[in-house]
Amino acid sequence: MKKIIIINGANLNLLGKREPQIYGNKSFEDYLTELKQMFPNLILDYFQSNSEGEIIDKIQEVGFDYDGIVINAGAYTHTSIAIADAIKSISAPAVEVHISNVHKREDFRHHSYLSAVCKGVVLGFGIQSYELAIRGLI
Ligand code: DQA
Repeated sequence: MKKIIIINGANLNLLGKREPQIYGNKSFEDYLTELKQMFPNLILDYFQSNSEGEIIDKIQEVGFDYDGIVINAGAYTHTSIAIADAIKSISAPAVEVHISNVHKREDFRHHSYLSAVCKGVVLGFGIQSYELAIRGLI
């Protein structure tokens, strides 16, 4: 079975509670249950951290073993050269995800350090963006 991991970064542990008009009402744990039902033939793992270093450690840990990474780094998307370098260093393809359409939002959200090192980007489809990214990977 193919192994894919979803990595969520800063503040994404608050999905369902955080700015629901932007990010929706569903917790990621509930959505993950739905995703696992949608993709019964995948090993779908999940990791969330608010710490940049922990995200990098996880990318290094899975990056030569898993078949793909779906990453929503949250605000680190717009700041982290270190996460971009980690993605560049591994062999597994990564897909960048955003729940919101960052290009319709503040200017500082328009630049991503991750897009250039990812295989593709899915954004703006709400929480369904994760499903679309998984479909792209497989
Ligand atoms: C986000 C967009 C980022 O700009 C923001 O900092 C987030 C969430 C999204 O999924 O839409 O935390 O990555």
